[in-house]
Parts: sequence; C-alpha cells; structure tokens
Amino acid sequence: MDVAIVGYGFLGRNLLTSVVEKWSAIKAVDPYFRLVGVSNSTGYAFSPEGLPLHGVLDSGGLEHYSGFTLGGTSLELLDKCSPDLVVELTPTNIVDGEPGLTHIQHSLRMGSHVVTANKGPLAHAYWELNAEAQKHGVMLLYEATVAGAVPLFSLVRECLQADRITRMLGILNGTTNYILTRMHFEEIGFEAALKEAKERGLTERDPSIDIGGHDAACKAVILANAIMGKRVKLRDVKTRGIETITAEAIRLAKRSGYTIKLVATVADTVEVAPRLVPVNHPLCVHGTLNSVYLESDLAGELTLVGHGAGKQTVSAIMNDIITVLKRTSH
Ligand SMILES: NC(=O)c1ccc[n+]([C@@H]2O[C@H](COP(=O)([O-])OP(=O)(O)OC[C@H]3O[C@@H](n4cnc5c(N)ncnc54)[C@H](OP(=O)(O)O)[C@@H]3O)[C@@H](O)[C@H]2O)c1
Repeated sequence: MDVAIVGYGFLGRNLLTSVVEKWSAIKAVDPYFRLVGVSNSTGYAFSPEGLPLHGVLDSGGLEHYSGFTLGGTSLELLDKCSPDLVVELTPTNIVDGEPGLTHIQHSLRMGSHVVTANKGPLAHAYWELNAEAQKHGVMLLYEATVAGAVPLFSLVRECLQADRITRMLGILNGTTNYILTRMHFEEIGFEAALKEAKERGLTERDPSIDIGGHDAACKAVILANAIMGKRVKLRDVKTRGIETITAEAIRLAKRSGYTIKLVATVADTVEVAPRLVPVNHPLCVHGTLNSVYLESDLAGELTLVGHGAGKQTVSAIMNDIITVLKRTSH
C-alpha cells in the first residue's frame, strides 16, 4: 500500500518514528507498504519508489530533506502520488475545518482511504465525508480525533456491535481538566491555574478554544454522529466553558464529595458544560487524562480512561492504519 502523510508536525513525526519501530509488524500485514509522500505547510517530499524513512526522520525538519519540493502544496502531492491511504494530520481549524477538510475530500474522491487525527473536518462535515467515503468504496477512520489514544470508536465498532448506546459523558479536553484538577487539589484560582497550563504548553494558541469548551464541543459532535447516529452540527451543541468557575465553587463541591469537571454530554441533546461530578465516579479523572463513560442497552455502563493527547495518540493512528491494511490485504 502506498501511503502519504499530510501534515508533518508533532504527530506526523511521532507517527513516522513509530512506523520505523513497528516496521516488521507493518510489513507482516502488508509487504508492499511504503511511504510515498509527506507534506507540511511549505512543501513536500515525494518518491514513487518509497521515501527512506530514516532519511526523512533524520533530516532535522522536512524542509531540510534533500528531496523536498519547496512551495508544493499537499493537493499537488496527492495528485502526484495517488496514495492508497492518506494520513491527514494538519492543524485543527474549528471555524471551517480547513485545510484538512479539503485534503480529506480530495483524498476520498480520488479513491484513497483516509486516517485522520484532525477533528475539524469531522466536526464540520461528518455525514458528508462518510457519504463520500462510501461512494468511493474507501475507509475513513478517525480514532485519534476524540480522546487521543483511547480506543473508543474501535471498541464500539468491534466489541459493541449489537449494543445501542443510549448516553455518553466525556471529559474530552485535557487542558481544562488540568486547570480544574489544579484548582481542586491546590485550591488555586482559575487565572493561576490557567497561567500554569500555559507555562506547561498545554493550551492552544488561542486558549479560549479549550477553556470556552469549543474543543470539547467538536469532539461531542463527532461522538454524537459516529456513535449515536445523530445528525448534529457544532451549532447544535449548547456550550459553556470553565472561565467563571471560582476557587470557592470548587471548595464547596469538594466538601460534599464532588468536584467540577467540564463534561460533554451526548444524550437526547448534546451539551458541553461544567458539571458537579462525584470524586468516586469512574468518569472523574485528573490532570490531563480524558475519560468517556458509556451507557448501552446490553453492556450497561462502561468507562474508558487514557491519554487524550501527546505522543500516545500515535497508538490510535497506527491502529487505524493497520485496520486499513488488514481490511484491504487479500
Ligand atoms: N498533538 C496531539 O497530541 C493531538 C492529539 C489528538 C489530535 N490531534 C490533532 O492532530 C492534528 C495534528 O496535530 P499536531 O500536534 O501534529 O499538530 P502540529 O504539530 O501543529 O502539526 C501540524 C502540521 O501540519 C502542517 N500543515 C499546516 N497546514 C498544512 C497544509 N496546508 N498542508 C500540509 N501540511 C500543513 C504544519 O506544517 P508546518 O510544519 O510547516 O507548520 C505541521 O507540520 C491536529 O488536527 C490536532 O488537533 C493532535
């Protein structure tokens, strides 16, 4: 299988490192696996015979790789290499999903399978993209878009095939969970905890995307559509952030065995808001961890906990890639 990676930042680099580490396992599934293209915002590297993985990794930045085409676009790369699989890892844009939305649409239309960690395109056009994938007989997998390394969609797809999921609650944003955790345990105010989160590099360039609940709302949209079959857009999610949570509110909650968490609720309606959560509830995880609590008609209650971001996210991307390789190998 010919594979292209569009977006070679934190996850792109970590993915390539894992591809090198897991090379024999990948080759055991698909002996023809090769990486034919990699792009970033300034250009791309392309080789129809397969790029040398160590050569790209060791170049000290894609633009320093000897075969780099400066000024080439990702769409140009995709047209040039017609990959069987595109791994889309460009930055999330919650306003219109671009440039990832166009990359994914273009890939599906040319008959390429797509694996992505980019929640923007799915939050904006979940059903449209899935219809496009179906029309062209290709797979669109997006495990890493919600709760990073937590294998949520795969679990539901593979292990809850007869279940009907009736309700989901999620702590889906590591930054706000870090802030609320610091407020709970250290009894510091919101501003001090936000400052700490910024110093640790945990916030987006625009922190209001996290603290205003918009990142969690995008993820709630994907959960609602993908797992509960709803037809929900971002504008349908009632969203409140954590900006107004005070140290006093958390202190009072704590005294009664609760804490305050930013919770995404997917049920009859889809909402993101600060909620009181009992400290002994399985959903109640701390620090940058994410958690998802499901209720279903057969299995009852299930909770998944794990890393919502960081290089562990590569686990979800790799699993999606292997899924595509396995389903297409004959
Ligand atoms: N980081 C995580 O832990 C994590 C977890 C779950 C999901 N995600 C999602 O996964 C995606 C990638 O995350 P990341 O942390 O790797 O982001 P990142 O470090 O910001 O990397 C993004 C990459 O995309 C490139 N890019 C921007 N516009 C492009 C375009 N038009 N064509 C090709 N490449 C383009 C950037 O190019 P330059 O290098 O030239 O700037 C950069 O290489 C994001 O959507 C993010 O929300 C990330």
